[in-house]
Amino acid sequence: MLALLVYAFIYSNTKVVLREYDVASAELPAAFSGLRLAVVSDTHGKFDRRTLDAVFDADPDIILLTGDIIDDAAQIQDAADFAGALADRAPTYFVTGNHEWATDAAREFISKLSLLGVHVMDGRAEYFEKDGGRIVIAGLPDPTAHGDNPSPAAVLENTKDDFVLLLSHRPYEPDHFAEFGTDLIVSGHVHGGMVRLPGLGGIIGPGREFLPKLDGSRAYKGANGSTLIVSRGLAGVKFYDTQFHFPRLFNPREVVVITLTKG
Ligand SMILES: [Fe+2]
Repeated sequence: MLALLVYAFIYSNTKVVLREYDVASAELPAAFSGLRLAVVSDTHGKFDRRTLDAVFDADPDIILLTGDIIDDAAQIQDAADFAGALADRAPTYFVTGNHEWATDAAREFISKLSLLGVHVMDGRAEYFEKDGGRIVIAGLPDPTAHGDNPSPAAVLENTKDDFVLLLSHRPYEPDHFAEFGTDLIVSGHVHGGMVRLPGLGGIIGPGREFLPKLDGSRAYKGANGSTLIVSRGLAGVKFYDTQFHFPRLFNPREVVVITLTKG
């Protein structure tokens, strides 16, 4: 029993798995069928070769960084090297999480990523074009962001006729943004509930809540056609202001890979 626990502990805190999802949508232009998105979320300053190799193995067309990439200003240079390596491989899009804003160095981090060609999507929407077709990639900053945060309505204005991929570090119910025509929402934040148990799923959420509902167990479908995918992330949860991270258990670190299909 002890040996199993030790193995599970090491497995969940070192290995990186690729978790694959397929998302079908009638809104998707035919040219985008088969497009692959790799999601890197909640690294919390841990930028290891395993994560990079997992992303490269997934051979993505687009890479999504969905926040809590750093939780300390001292991690900015390592994070920039990591994000730069990703952006060299495929177009890379980033939104902030609560931990970026807790550092008070979020603006510096954003500037650094922008210089490297990473698309910083806090409160913005862009077209991504391919073979005559286009989709919208949009993002919302974490609600703890400092300064003026544009509303979802402002960010997603005039996007209803397009396939809309929305990045939001915090997961909301899949229909939360449906009135703006979202088709796919990608989030992180929950770390899969840190410890996962059969029949219960994730045990602890980022706000210390018990049995978080959107713990990345599956793709969540909304009644209005939106799909929410929540990455279980790539690190433990930082313990308040210390450098200690609560370890994960029965919950391997993951790079999510989403394949879009015309459905
Ligand atoms: Fe978070």
